[in-house]
Amino acid sequence: MDALTVRDVNVTGHRVFLRADLNVPLDDGRITDDTRIRASLPTIVYLLERGASVVLASHLGRPKGKVNDALRLRPVAERLSELLGRPVRMTGDAIGPGVAVAVDKLRPGDLLLLENLRFHAAEEANDPAFAKELAAFAELYVNDAFGAAHRAHASTEGITHFLPAVAGLLMEREVDALGRLLKRPERPFHAVIGGAKVSDKLDVLHALLSRCQAVLVGGGMANTFLAARGASLGKSLVEGDQLDNASRILVEARRKRVRLMLPTDAVVAPQIHHRARTRTVAINEVPADQMVVDIGPQTIATYTEYLEKARTVFWNGPMGVFEMPQMAEGTNAMARFLAKRSARAGVVTIVGGGDSVAAVEHLGLGPKMTHVSTGGGASLEFLEGKILPGVAALLPAGAVVNLGPVS
Ligand code: 3PG
Repeated sequence: MDALTVRDVNVTGHRVFLRADLNVPLDDGRITDDTRIRASLPTIVYLLERGASVVLASHLGRPKGKVNDALRLRPVAERLSELLGRPVRMTGDAIGPGVAVAVDKLRPGDLLLLENLRFHAAEEANDPAFAKELAAFAELYVNDAFGAAHRAHASTEGITHFLPAVAGLLMEREVDALGRLLKRPERPFHAVIGGAKVSDKLDVLHALLSRCQAVLVGGGMANTFLAARGASLGKSLVEGDQLDNASRILVEARRKRVRLMLPTDAVVAPQIHHRARTRTVAINEVPADQMVVDIGPQTIATYTEYLEKARTVFWNGPMGVFEMPQMAEGTNAMARFLAKRSARAGVVTIVGGGDSVAAVEHLGLGPKMTHVSTGGGASLEFLEGKILPGVAALLPAGAVVNLGPVS
């Protein structure tokens, strides 16, 4: 990557503020997917092994500037303790005199986790006073929170005005892997895009039409494209206000000679429920009282056959309601197929975005992919070619950081 990384600085004996993205899904206080915590381990371990004292910070959820007991980082501290095999101490707040005392006591190799940064509205407001207070805890800032790099918040951008700022190992891996898609991806480069809504993916769809040779669409958003072409889809989710946008994308794809593929059959159900009965129908035969809940077997076959030619694939968004087993086959088949192509044929497979990542991890296929991004919105904005504030704020490669004598 084009920025200085943690490997470029001698951190031994120094205090480091490490911003990670430990924003994990919780169900009743229980972590349902610890991918982001595990992905943050290499930088944490790297710093601790080199004798840095580490002040670790993250947001969790969207508490909107207020303390919310359901969004405390305690479960994260506990999971981190298990993974590191040592207790992880945490503070009751992200700033304040109590935190400063705890930070002062840190010795080389110690780790302290701060409470949820977003309990302070100043975090999302990128308030300089708040950023300065965070910066006062350390001599070096390491940003490993790729998942939050599209946010210009106090802990991702503001703090870099007060401390030398370098990338963590996960940040470096993410930027390098996703950067491959922007630079010179091996062709054919195809994208598989799913998820519920076209409106969430308009910008990335436009960007992909300039980079890919084919875009294969699944999930609820395929319905909106099909409806824009005049299909009637029963009770299916269709974004009525996005039909024009969908039509424009179809026209743009034709103009750019990008193959935009839509499902030819679908799994339908009367409702989204774990006991709902499903059946497969041709896409132009969705009954009035049914809704599309997954791509059908013919679509899976067509898509995977077409993807056989690809040398690079970017996948974002599930093909159906993969949380329900009877509606998950499209998503699971895509995950299995891409894992196989990556492992056996050396195809570059990059999975970005929360739900498709959850599906891949659930099947244990993450290690088979070239890269599974921890960023949802961040990975999409990166692929749109946007400058991520958290990345732009890092020192450029080649800059020299000398933290001076150990205090
Ligand atoms: C994410 O989950 O995409 C990141 O942690 C950022 O969270 P946010 O969308 O609430 O800023």
